[in-house]
Amino acid sequence: MKKLLDILSDELKRAFKEAGYDDEKIIVTASNRPDLCEYQCNGAMALAKEAHKAPFMIAEEVVTRLEGSGYFSKAECVKPGFINLDISDDFLASYISEEATADKFGLENKASKKVVVDYGGPNVAKPLHIGHLRAAIIGEAVKRISKYVGNDTLGDIHMGDWGLQMGLIIAEMKERGMDRMPTLDELSEIYPAASEKSKSDEAFKNKAMDITFGLQHGNEEYLRIWRHIMDISVADLKQNYDKLNVSFEIWKGEADADPYIAPMVEKMKKDGLAYESEGALVVDVSEEGDAKEVPPCMILKSDGASLYTTTDLATLVQREQDYDPDAVIYVVDKRQDLHFVQVFRAAKKCCIVPEETKLSFLGFGTMNGKDGKPFKTRDGGVMRLESLLDEVYEKCLERMKENGSDMTEDELKDAAGKIALAAIKYGDLSNEARKDYVFDIDKFTSFEGNTGPYILYTMVRIKSILRKYQENGGKADDMKILYPANASEKSLMMTLAGFAPMIESAWEGLAPHRICAYIYQLANDFNKFYHETKIISEEDKARQGSWIALIKLTLSVLETSIDLLGFEAPEAM
Ligand code: ARG
Repeated sequence: MKKLLDILSDELKRAFKEAGYDDEKIIVTASNRPDLCEYQCNGAMALAKEAHKAPFMIAEEVVTRLEGSGYFSKAECVKPGFINLDISDDFLASYISEEATADKFGLENKASKKVVVDYGGPNVAKPLHIGHLRAAIIGEAVKRISKYVGNDTLGDIHMGDWGLQMGLIIAEMKERGMDRMPTLDELSEIYPAASEKSKSDEAFKNKAMDITFGLQHGNEEYLRIWRHIMDISVADLKQNYDKLNVSFEIWKGEADADPYIAPMVEKMKKDGLAYESEGALVVDVSEEGDAKEVPPCMILKSDGASLYTTTDLATLVQREQDYDPDAVIYVVDKRQDLHFVQVFRAAKKCCIVPEETKLSFLGFGTMNGKDGKPFKTRDGGVMRLESLLDEVYEKCLERMKENGSDMTEDELKDAAGKIALAAIKYGDLSNEARKDYVFDIDKFTSFEGNTGPYILYTMVRIKSILRKYQENGGKADDMKILYPANASEKSLMMTLAGFAPMIESAWEGLAPHRICAYIYQLANDFNKFYHETKIISEEDKARQGSWIALIKLTLSVLETSIDLLGFEAPEAM
């Protein structure tokens, strides 16, 4: 479906052209003076110089040619030469009717690329903590948006499963004389103990490093233990991500990149791109015009061990082979910015990915506590993801009970789970990803204000109106959407018309927060409209039917939007 602003712009282009002016740059935008008009066109101002005419005269000539236009109910010029526009009610209603029946609300599937989204990045054997929350939440949303706009999209969890933590665990098992495989519970105790010990015990740390080296170089015993740890950890990770409504198409990790490292390094050397510097193997990635120095990308340490950059580059080799992606998007903590600059440059320079492949880094900020410091548990420890989820869930359950709900215990629990997820995800996603934000449980779980629960509350309210309407014998299909009966209905319609362009912009900017801003506006528009309109008691059946169709559309747009954000609404709350 053609975008509303494009239709209106084309109508203005026609008028400018008919009045004898160049129409190339003519556009209509939303008004920045909503008290005066709904849309505006400033084209006359830009043409004045070239035409040797006052902008007001040009605007007048154009406005005459908009008389009788079916698109506008008002077109007037104001000094010095702006054109103020109001959209015609009938045209708006017909546009919304088309949107209501169109696939994806009229969004055109222009994107048809192969996209890999790399998000998650949990380190195996360490419990998931809140540091992994943002990657999961933002990455999942970006992946869903990419799919929705028509891309063939794969999410890769890219586990940290090949590093020192594995050596630490195996070293600790050896010291304890464990001759059987650990359970998940044992593992979650062994790793922190080993990590703690390595800080003070140099010999232990060296042992762990040797084991890590052995593991990475094919030691059978270590590999057996590694496989076992992977099996039990992956099962546990799946469960945890499930609770977040996050899932991955690809469950690969750093270890899977290992076989690609040796041939990759060989080629880099052969092509003369990697060279030795102080014993290490590096690739230069600085570029002219760099504001800050970008140090060479280290490929191998002096002892021949590979690094984080090495596995990321080798993973790109593997992705090229297996998926041949047009774009790879990394959703990782923004403090890894430099790492990705180096990896992307080295990948292009060494022809690991073709020049036209788009490599993007969506770096996110830190989730802070109310004290402005990285979020911690009450006693100052690292908060486990599960504990955070539980805490928010309890809070939501408590709020619902306070509100005096007549739901059964099971219904209450189901709703509380959905509200909790919405609170957490919306609280995160409504901020621009790069920014830090404060995790404020009271604010996030509130049913009022710019929160996830408020959006759900609005949806539940619509569902309840639709139920009531049906109980009264109303049929909810095939109703014609009529011209808006009042200003709040018109605003609601205008916001609904903005869905497709908003999605496009959320995709182009990798910006789920634009979806949040949009649904908050939509929920506010709906609530204002609902406040001023008596839907259920309306006598005029055509009018009532039109309203029902309109709120059904509002509900589906909200449902689609929150699905893209990765949460869902309960039936009641
Ligand atoms: N495991 C890494 C960490 O915890 C994050 C991995 C991000 N993805 C990537 N391809 N490097 O810091």
